[in-house]
Amino acid sequence: MTVSTTLVAAPFFQELVEWLPRHDEPARPLVALSTITADGYPDTRHVLLSEFDETGFYFHTDARSRKIAQLTTAPRASFAVAWPELGRQLVVLGDTEPAPVSEAQRAYANRSPYLKTLAWLNSAEFAVLPLEERVEAWRTFDEEHQSDSLLPPATWAGILLRPTRVTLWHAHPATASQRLEYTLEAEGTWASSILPG
Ligand SMILES: Cc1cc2nc3c(=O)[nH]c(=O)nc-3n(C[C@H](O)[C@H](O)[C@H](O)COP(=O)(O)O)c2cc1C
Repeated sequence: MTVSTTLVAAPFFQELVEWLPRHDEPARPLVALSTITADGYPDTRHVLLSEFDETGFYFHTDARSRKIAQLTTAPRASFAVAWPELGRQLVVLGDTEPAPVSEAQRAYANRSPYLKTLAWLNSAEFAVLPLEERVEAWRTFDEEHQSDSLLPPATWAGILLRPTRVTLWHAHPATASQRLEYTLEAEGTWASSILPG
């Protein structure tokens, strides 16, 4: 189900704005992102949540990666991220599509100098080089490129996850944890329910 809807009117949007950092904050949440293998297994890895807006959640990766191959075949994903010290967990499930080019470029520009270089060098061929060669190639690349003016490589791929289910888990030190769960209905409205934590 892909319903084009803006999340601004969603009952959880304001809470997400409070929980997630602004786009220009350098520290990004680390989330466990699950995709589906060709034989139907969930496949999970940690990635940075690059951005979040009224359309959905954005991740960035290498176009040659396993996760992109999986999303091409099965454009559905979920992610979970927790802030135990704040008594919070966010779980999101939904449909994926390539992120708009302008968003992917902005996310690249906001990446740290290290991550900008990584996007250029992080290939299968590079990974198997001896350590000294990898260090030397990295140093040479950094010497030859100004991080501020680096553009994303052709392999820079953005993923937009449009949520169909959003679950906000709240802990409370004096009572049981509780989940507020929102599910996107066919007509584009959000149904909510309260669940045990
Ligand atoms: C702290 C941390 C942050 C990471 N951030 C990203 C990221 O934003 N994008 C990404 O593609 N991989 C990121 N990775 C690497 C992924 O976990 C994973 O190894 C890689 O994307 C290959 O996954 P795949 O083969 O399932 O596609 C990160 C790993 C760690 C430990």
